[in-house]
Amino acid sequence: MRRSRIISTGSFLPEKVLTNSDLEKLVDTSDEWITERTGIKERRIAGPGQAASDLAYEASRVALERAGISAGEVNAIIVGTISGDMPFPSTACFLQNKLGASNAVAFDVNAACSGFLYALYIADSFIKSGLQDKILVVGTEVLSQITDWEDRTTCVLFGDGAGAAVLVPSHDDRGVLSVHIHSDGTMWDLITVPGGGSRNPVSSGSINQRLHYIKMKGNETFKVAVRTLEDIAVKTLAQNGLIASDLALLVPHQANQRIIQATAERLKLPKEKVVMNLDKYGNTSAASIPIALDEAVQTGRIQEGDYILLEAFGGGLTWASALIKW
Ligand code: UT7
Repeated sequence: MRRSRIISTGSFLPEKVLTNSDLEKLVDTSDEWITERTGIKERRIAGPGQAASDLAYEASRVALERAGISAGEVNAIIVGTISGDMPFPSTACFLQNKLGASNAVAFDVNAACSGFLYALYIADSFIKSGLQDKILVVGTEVLSQITDWEDRTTCVLFGDGAGAAVLVPSHDDRGVLSVHIHSDGTMWDLITVPGGGSRNPVSSGSINQRLHYIKMKGNETFKVAVRTLEDIAVKTLAQNGLIASDLALLVPHQANQRIIQATAERLKLPKEKVVMNLDKYGNTSAASIPIALDEAVQTGRIQEGDYILLEAFGGGLTWASALIKW
């Protein structure tokens, strides 16, 4: 069967660093609380005028260059984001324009923190079916613009960044072995931006109620995330006839150190086999997996033939996983 393969990755983080001690000056919090409860020490914040497609462009440019593929050769651009440049047009169309990828179809996927893996699922399906050959898959977020900087329960968690991957058909047994995507809309209210859509359109009232910012029932989300991610990791391995010790690396969504550790413990993976960079970047939603993947590739933590498990969980609720033979 035709299979897709990630041939290159790229990522981009804005320069500005916001540390936990900076946050101590904004809200009633402490470096100790944030570090213990989340593992986050600092996060990156986009500069004025820097939107999701600007970050995506930088990550994509690097990924395409590393792939040796010109923008004009790209057949499809699929972007996972919940903090796009505008409600419409899609951030993927802005990115297409910036790259000059004039032969690509471009569209966004809204699956919150699972956005990159949803986009990977679509790209993998396009390639498997023979519809497309060269696809750019991106996760990009400027969450700092939808974060309530007066709400200590959320503002300590999020950061900005972008990651990209280039997929082409595989010519051997390496590549994307399987991608699994799931949703459960009954738990839609655990993580939302309630304002700005057709339910609660922008008005002075919606702004006064701060409805245009992220709201999260953190503790409830935490419990579902731990259960779901452990479950999906085990099932994804089983579906591919593998066991956890076959894995070279787990690349999880970077929401909370304790959630990542719970999955690692369930799989009995030592910490060398788990990518964790949320101390530097916080939770960058759809961007977190491609950023972590790119860092792992660039630092030599992933070698040809390695089995890599990616997994994510987020608003919707949505969750997803992918098993890759690199
Ligand atoms: O990426 C998409 C998916 N998202 C996630 O997976 C996030 C999942 N949730 C989490 O990571 C955690 O639930 C949080 C890090 C958000 C919160 O940690 P928690 O251990 O679940 O804390 P909590 O919400 O139960 O709050 C415990 C206490 C509360 O005080 P009381 O009621 O016990 O007096 C909070 O008010 O901590 C308080 N608190 C804070 N204290 C200092 C909440 N935020 C802060 C803060 N600084 N920033």
